[in-house]
This record gives sequence, structure tokens and C-alpha cells, in this order.
Amino acid sequence: ATNQSWGGRFSEPTDAFVAAFTASIDFDKRLYHHDIRGSIAHATMLARVGVLTEEERDRIIEGLTEIEAEIERGEVEWSVALEDIHMNVEARLTDKIGITGKKLHTGRSRNDQIATDIRLYLRDEIDAVAAELARLRSGLIELADREADTIMPGFTHLQTAQPVTFGHHLLAWQEMLARDHERLYDCRKRVNVLPLGAAALAGTTYPIDRHVTAEMLGFSRPAENSLDAVSDRDFAIEFTAFASILLMHLSRMSEEMVLWASAQFDFVDLPDRFCTGSSIMPQKKNPDVPELVRGKTGRVYGHLMSLLTLMKSQPLAYNKDNQEDKEPLFDTLDTVKGCLRAFADMAPALVAKPDSMLEAARRGFSTATDLADYLVRAGVAFRDAHEVVGKAVAYGIEQKKDLSEMSLDELKRFSTVIDADVFDVLTLEGSVAARNHIGGTAPDQVRAAAQRAREALAAL
Ligand code: ARG
Repeated sequence: ATNQSWGGRFSEPTDAFVAAFTASIDFDKRLYHHDIRGSIAHATMLARVGVLTEEERDRIIEGLTEIEAEIERGEVEWSVALEDIHMNVEARLTDKIGITGKKLHTGRSRNDQIATDIRLYLRDEIDAVAAELARLRSGLIELADREADTIMPGFTHLQTAQPVTFGHHLLAWQEMLARDHERLYDCRKRVNVLPLGAAALAGTTYPIDRHVTAEMLGFSRPAENSLDAVSDRDFAIEFTAFASILLMHLSRMSEEMVLWASAQFDFVDLPDRFCTGSSIMPQKKNPDVPELVRGKTGRVYGHLMSLLTLMKSQPLAYNKDNQEDKEPLFDTLDTVKGCLRAFADMAPALVAKPDSMLEAARRGFSTATDLADYLVRAGVAFRDAHEVVGKAVAYGIEQKKDLSEMSLDELKRFSTVIDADVFDVLTLEGSVAARNHIGGTAPDQVRAAAQRAREALAAL
């Protein structure tokens, strides 16, 4: 035989380049633990239904357990000739325990094996991603609570709009991540279904019990249809879609951090440990971490597009195309975990610069809407109030004065209903405090929102 796993019907060995070209061991070796776990469950089920003897099962489990330890000690040399992780492990098992090793693959195909391995692997990785996401959310919630009173300009069109609190802004980030967290858990439900037992595509003639295997591996149920089970990669696409949306959010946060850390904004200090210097300009401190996260978003979008395109038009059931699912999925996982770790460390360490935030909020006539609302409360129609305040702002621009810096006499020129109590609404503190309803920027609301976010996160 030309290949110990399938050489029987072949009359010449595989071309050396083709062997290397079709092999996946270089990247699927990272599935070794989950491959072995799946095999142990499969052998246990086979013994349960009488296809393997208990002695055979025990020898297989012992052998696989030893192989896992050898892999972890770095003693295993992977063979490209053996194509993938499944055949590498199986060949080693047979070297170790002889003919019994060749019985492991009874009632199974690499098609249902790989589909099972990726799901097991991805499920563990999802749990790791969820933990980092929780750490990031929690860090943002605590920072938001501490910064509930800190005033900064809120923007529309990147122009100063109305004052908000820094805590409120941070909780907006937190909301984006809370939705991502939900999406991740939703995706996990569809990852957590067992393909094993589908065999190559049609099921198997052995009296297997897929419920036993599902339960041993912690899957919620066996996949319903064998053709679908070996060919479905929706779960990988869903995870990558989750990751794309998450990174889109992280890129938006990154962009704000980069702007805020600039001398022009000067709203925050990014701790030195998250920045790097310039080899030519001695004064520089560059926000490399947020910039890199912003940049990595592009590669994850690319992986999403590559997985969607990989699956497009594939006929049932398994096709070798599917081997191409791994690198985009693995790189997405590595990228997401790296970005989340960097963010979970960095975001809570942002140091607000309240004086320059306040100063910036004051510069942009950010309480103009408050003045209009004040006029409305005194009986002026909103559209007229809008016009009056617009004229006051034009005067302020000319005089280089904020609304709060004008005298009562100056303000009265624009509307006679204005009284001394107008200064309560023209201050930034008054402006944010007045937005005192659920979802509003008032410091008390921010503290209450932080508490609700804490509870929602703990209840997850
Ligand atoms: N390395 C293959 C993959 O990743 C495993 C399944 C191979 N099955 C097959 N019939 N060639 O998809």
C-alpha cells in the first residue's frame, strides 16, 4: 500500500508535491487535544454498544492518553505524509498498541471526526473569549462608575454637540460589548451539536449510540442529519461574524482613544506601557495598541468573507474545500483573543484629563440646546427658541464668549423671557444633571446604569 490509511486501491504513491499540497497537519495539529478527546468518547461508546471489547477500549484510551502527553512534551514529529492530525494520531496509536489501534476508526470517518474536533475546539475557545469579554466589560463598568461626574463634550459629526459625562461615554462602549457577548453565547448554542456518527456522509451500519457520545463530550444533542452534519460550517461563519462585529466595535473605541490621546484633544492619558516611541522623534508617544487593534479589524473581516465564499455553492456533503476553514477560523480566534486581552488590560487604565475635557466642552457652545429648552419652558415655541439661540451663538462666536460667559443684559437682548436663573442651565454641570432619565447622561443615571450593567454581567 502507498499510504497506510487509504492506500489499498492505489497503484502508485502520491506525488510528493500533492502530498504536501493537500496536507493540513501544519495547521490542524492545534486540534490534537480535541481530536484525542473525541476519539476517547468514540471508543467508549463503541465498547458500550459491543463493537469494541472493554480491553480494546482500555488499550485505545491508554494509548491515546500517552500520545497526548508525548505531544505536550514536544516529542511527536508530525508527518506531512500522514496528511492531518487525525491520521498522525491514529498512526502513532497503531505503532504503540498494534492492531487494536486500527479498530478505533470503526463506524467513523474523518469527515465527522474533523467536524467534531472543530466544534469541540471552538467551544473551548468561545469560553475563553467570553471570559476576556467579561473582564473588559467589567473594567469599563468600574471606570465609568468612577468617572460618572466627569464632564466632556459629546459629539455629532465630530463637532461639539452637548456635554456628556465620561462615564456615560464609557457605558456606551459597554453596551456594544454586551450585545457582542449575547451574540457569542447565541453562536455557542449552534456550535454545541455533535456531528460524530454521521460517518462519511450517510451514517454507519454499526449499532452506535450518538446520545452517549454527545453526552460524554458535553454536546447538547447529536446533529439531526448526517449529510448536513459533515458539511455544515455555519458555526464557523457565525463565530467570525461575531468577531467581525466585535472588532468593528473595538476599532471605534480605538479610534476615539487615538483621538483623545492626541495633543489636539488631550482628553486622556494612555499609560506608557501600552504605547511605544519613535526612533527619530524623541517627543513621541504613540498609541500603538489601539491603532493595531483598529488595523486587525480588516483581517478578521477578510476571514469572514473567505469563509462565506468557501462555503458558497458547495454541494452536499463533505468536500475537501472544507479543509480551508481552519486557517481563517484559527487566525480569527488568535486575533480576537489578542485584541480583547490588550483591551481588557488597557481600557480600564485610561486616565481621564477632566480639566481639558471640561475646557473643550465649554468651547463649543455645548449648552445651546439647554438655552433653547429654557426658552421653551418660558413659553417660547421650540423653533423660535432655536432661532433666538442661534443668534446668541453667532454673537458669542464674534465676541469669543461662551453662552455662560455672557451677562444677563447681553442674553436679554436675544429674548426678554431670559432671567437670572438661566445660568443654572447654561453651566455644563446643570446641563448634564438635567438629562436625568433612564439612558440619559446625568451622573446619577450613569451610576445607576453601571449598577445594572454589573448585575447583568454577573447574571450571564
Ligand atoms: N483534513 C481534513 C479537513 O480538514 C479532514 C477531513 C478529510 N476528509 C477527507 N475525506 N479527505 O477537512
